[in-house]
Amino acid sequence: MTSQIIPVDPFDFIIFGGTGDLSERKLLPALYHRQRDHQFSEPTRIIGTSRSKLSDEEFQEFARKAIKEHVQKEYIDKAEVEKFVSRLSYVPADATTGSGFDALKKAIGNSKSIRAFYLAVTPALFGDIAAQLKKHEMITPDSRIVVEKPIGRDLTSAKALNDQIGGVFGEHQIFRIDHYLGKETVQNLMALRFANALYEPLWNSAHIDHVQITVAETVGLEDRVTYYDTAGALRDMVQNHMLQLLCLVAMEPPSSMDANAVRDEKLKVLRSLKRVNGQEAPKATVRGQYRAGASSGGAVKGYLEELGKPDSTTETFVALKAEINNWRWAGVPFYLRTGKRLATRVSEIVIEFKPVPYNIFGESAGNVSPNQLVIRLQPDEGVKQYIMVKDPGPGGMRLRQLPLDMSFAQSFDGRSPDAYERLVMDVIRGNQTLFMRRDEVEAAWTWVDPILNAWAESRQEAQGYTAGTWGPSASIALIERDGRTWHESN
Ligand code: BG6
Repeated sequence: MTSQIIPVDPFDFIIFGGTGDLSERKLLPALYHRQRDHQFSEPTRIIGTSRSKLSDEEFQEFARKAIKEHVQKEYIDKAEVEKFVSRLSYVPADATTGSGFDALKKAIGNSKSIRAFYLAVTPALFGDIAAQLKKHEMITPDSRIVVEKPIGRDLTSAKALNDQIGGVFGEHQIFRIDHYLGKETVQNLMALRFANALYEPLWNSAHIDHVQITVAETVGLEDRVTYYDTAGALRDMVQNHMLQLLCLVAMEPPSSMDANAVRDEKLKVLRSLKRVNGQEAPKATVRGQYRAGASSGGAVKGYLEELGKPDSTTETFVALKAEINNWRWAGVPFYLRTGKRLATRVSEIVIEFKPVPYNIFGESAGNVSPNQLVIRLQPDEGVKQYIMVKDPGPGGMRLRQLPLDMSFAQSFDGRSPDAYERLVMDVIRGNQTLFMRRDEVEAAWTWVDPILNAWAESRQEAQGYTAGTWGPSASIALIERDGRTWHESN
């Protein structure tokens, strides 16, 4: 998608976990694209670090491979790749002992560039890295630190992590990534709501019946056995990505796109979420775990077989009904569902409006379905507004539902950038609008914790579902009890 590219100031990008999966799949390819689109100013450098003892050349080779594997062929240009790798150097370092930090400091030197310390490592190392950076006097006023989720596994551990980082960096320097906020269509949700006069008068409980948010994946554990089994879908997806999406749908119009203006409004939504207590949890939430089945045309193992353990109760699917106790949303349920090994890969938000007050066409015209606005985050990004129309031709009035269909691929030329491209450049620009503030993360845990506790206390089971389906039947029952159905994604 083409837009005018404004270069950012020169920067030093230091990747902790430089040889890891995130660096390979997302960060290096994202930085390559930004260079290719002429967004860098000189001198801009990228320094990889991790415990592995690599030379500069080996890290450069790692980056070449990362680009080859994770950048589409048509965007790979040999000269561009070589220019990119010439920015790369590597310093082995261990935050638990401090070894290598002197060398890292030396590698950065007296550079006046913006410094971005990107922590693509386990959160267990956040505190150690921040402390070593401080001890070695590497933090300039223009430095930022970027951290990836999971930020904690409950409110207490999230606070502890926030304290460790916050003890060294000011909140204005801390960039907590939720990569969903960098997705094009997620930002489009804000454009849709706040750059159009059409929807705002309807955006409330008087006109909206309910909201559905689905993030369905076809992948399974993907080599993340240790992390995932201690997290589960509620911590992995709902506490962050899905609650962020809910906030963007539900928040009041911020006074501007200023980071705090937007984050203040999201925070109010999080604080208005009705607590799900122990009694309500079995009715308002569903946990599931996939069993063997079929996915993307092939047979796949069940979660336990993939895990290699006979007895995990971790949920790979969650569906729940959230309610927002405020004037705009009272009485409008938000149904959320997410899971691994589901029928198809799709992320979408469905806003279902209330039905017409009275059907003047009579039964012979067919049903008058309520209008739906479907915001498709991936794949096939776009927005569809479903409306009722008359079936063409004679033979009386027959009604049919059709979408006003705006596919972004068809409407815009060019490549849709990956979320990380937007987010890493925002880090350099110092724009925190699409990053989570400390109080947001903690408010999200404040809502999630009682659900986790209720599950633990009542031993709420993770119900089995066959891989390649839409999750346990209880998820269908959750919404159908209220006389509604999940939107069928296709
Ligand atoms: C991550 C989760 O945050 O998001 C993963 O930890 C999940 O479990 C991923 O697969 C989904 O991201 P995307 O961009 O592929 O929808």
